[in-house]
Amino acid sequence: MTVDAVVSALRATLGERGVLTTPEDRARFETGWRYGKGTACCIARPASTAEVATVLRVCGEHGVRVVPQGANTGLVASSTPDASGTMVVLSLERLNRTIELDVAGRTVLVDGGVLLSQLNQELARHGFWFPVDLGADPQLGGMVATNTGGTRLLRYGDVRHNLLGVEVVLGDGRVLTQLNRLRKNNTGLDAKHLFVGTTGVFGVVTRAVLQVAPLPKQRSVALVACRDGDAVLALLTALEADLGDVLSAFEVMSANAVAAVLAHQPNLRRPFAELPRYAVLVELSSTLPADTLVLDAVLEARLGAFLETAGDAVLDVLVGKGDEFWQIRHHISESLRSEGKMLAFDISVPRSALPAFTADVERLLARDWPAVRLCDYGHWGDGGTHLNLVWNEATIGRAAAEVIAALQPSIYELAVRGYAGSYSAEHGVGPHNQRYYDLYTDPLVKQFCALLGGFCDPQDRLGTVRLE
Ligand code: LAC
Ligand code: ZN
Repeated sequence: MTVDAVVSALRATLGERGVLTTPEDRARFETGWRYGKGTACCIARPASTAEVATVLRVCGEHGVRVVPQGANTGLVASSTPDASGTMVVLSLERLNRTIELDVAGRTVLVDGGVLLSQLNQELARHGFWFPVDLGADPQLGGMVATNTGGTRLLRYGDVRHNLLGVEVVLGDGRVLTQLNRLRKNNTGLDAKHLFVGTTGVFGVVTRAVLQVAPLPKQRSVALVACRDGDAVLALLTALEADLGDVLSAFEVMSANAVAAVLAHQPNLRRPFAELPRYAVLVELSSTLPADTLVLDAVLEARLGAFLETAGDAVLDVLVGKGDEFWQIRHHISESLRSEGKMLAFDISVPRSALPAFTADVERLLARDWPAVRLCDYGHWGDGGTHLNLVWNEATIGRAAAEVIAALQPSIYELAVRGYAGSYSAEHGVGPHNQRYYDLYTDPLVKQFCALLGGFCDPQDRLGTVRLE
């Protein structure tokens, strides 16, 4: 195969605009948001399902591998090409026109390249939203392939929970169409699930049918200062028991994580004079209007009662500055990156084990790596914790790769084998965590994936991660 031959064959079907080749044009497709950097032979930008199929057939004929790419906002390097310079990036960004809402059905048909923000803008005109909510602005096809989670999973579930149908182009160009708008369809294998969370290695998601949610008419947010992880769990249990129907977020931020935000975002105000071990962002939301139910009053009353019984486990409660609290939450990831060297984690363990698991990690650091700071935060309502570690390379006197090689395997081992948890709770699998997929995935599941891969992508053209 020569690069020129593939490029001209792709140009013949997609036209000039459909294929990018110069280093400047390729750059934004070749580097991931957090991890992943490679070189593509070109970027193919099909604008229809038929064109996606043609791209895959042409690449198949030329023996070229393909990495499907949405908005390239993923966090495990699964949407960027490898370093060979021979892969084609198949970008869905021009397949972004269809947004067909069925108001009474409360479903929407979207092209895979539609951005989450674009969808929500259109849905808001009709009083709806797609409630898989996160800081980045991914494309819907990429969200299906990643099975995105986000900050309101506790209430609405992940993409899988809200997905009704898909259209997928398989590795050799065959098109599987399952675009029904049915909430109930109990007729054997629900094949759409094969393409959820499998990062595009079985096929490229070109369209999807999603269930959407009515937009809340009111939200009420509080920030609760908790002494320790046990207090956080007691708060979660109390809120679910009494306010579970309206609890829409339960996000936990350690003192170190909040301090990093305050250091790098001068516009944000310090919420507590003394930062607590954990600040918990609690959000209630409801489609009931405020003249029917005053959420602020409900939340304040419940937190007031909790404060009285909690003793000194709960140190303070702030209400009424929801936007500021959410801003602190959404700036954690980027602020930690500015702190020095960072090793990020996306772990989940059974919720009840979060304090014990975190304490084990603290002990491990105190014993072996006292200069490494634990800046944990995350979605405790879902058992998720981003146990991000930050250090100063000069102070620690070791190369970052050395620190990572020592810490990453032991923390994953503790989570997966010690606490029956997951090494990738919501960010999915990609080259970034391939070796842990290899280590922790049941051999039978890998065999199953090999069979599926052989059927869906017989020439093994798709993706940079290996599930078999
Ligand atoms: C977050 C991303 C990193 O929760 O998952 O901020
Ligand atoms: Zn997260």
